[in-house]
Amino acid sequence: MVILKSPQEIEKIRISNQIVAEILLKLKSEVKPGVNTLHLNRMAEQMAQEKNAKPAFKGYRGYPYSICASKNSIVVHGFPSKDALEEGDILSLDFGVLYDGYYGDAALTIPVGRVNESALRLTQVTREALYKGIEKAVPDGSLSDISHAIQSHVEAAGYSVVRKFVGHGIGQMLHEDPQIPNFGKPGMGTRLKAGMTFAIEPMVNECGHDVKILDDGWTVVTTDGALSAHFEHSIVITNNGPEILSKMNGS
Ligand code: CO
Repeated sequence: MVILKSPQEIEKIRISNQIVAEILLKLKSEVKPGVNTLHLNRMAEQMAQEKNAKPAFKGYRGYPYSICASKNSIVVHGFPSKDALEEGDILSLDFGVLYDGYYGDAALTIPVGRVNESALRLTQVTREALYKGIEKAVPDGSLSDISHAIQSHVEAAGYSVVRKFVGHGIGQMLHEDPQIPNFGKPGMGTRLKAGMTFAIEPMVNECGHDVKILDDGWTVVTTDGALSAHFEHSIVITNNGPEILSKMNGS
């Protein structure tokens, strides 16, 4: 069941997502060669605490950290590590909080120092695909219009969308209905309505779409070892179209 949110609830989800956005932007500014992602995890925890927000992922189904830090061929759910980031890496940072009873959730992929043309293009196409999906989040649209727009943009660029992980509704729970796949035929699934709040999160592989989970039970990697990128925004559908709740400095 997809839960429609009242204006008061939407405001709370907006506040949670603004906390997430602010923290992710701060983490982004720290990303450079030599920095390790455990340090980013500690920073995120400290900033959340200062805002009286609870990191949403730590303890979620036993996930052991507050951020997901997914480098290069890691698709999502990478553990923060003490290994230094290196020039040319791409790093996805995913973060969520619970504040005043409502969740925020967003992610972005960041180039570490100077990265090669193909890695940069992968991250740009993934970000564009997120925005193509968000554009379809309008009243009276179909859920799968979002999925289809993402898949079309990704495949036109020669990449593939991950099929085993999906976006989701968000609100008083981190993961609510509906599941939002990043692929599919248009015109199917839930009829979209004003007041729905979604976390849309394309995961895009440079080569094949297949992924596997490592023995730690969490880390999702591309089966072929190629690069992967990930962007996520939480949005609300309004009568005037989609509004991004996790906007970072206007973008
Ligand atoms: Co999410």
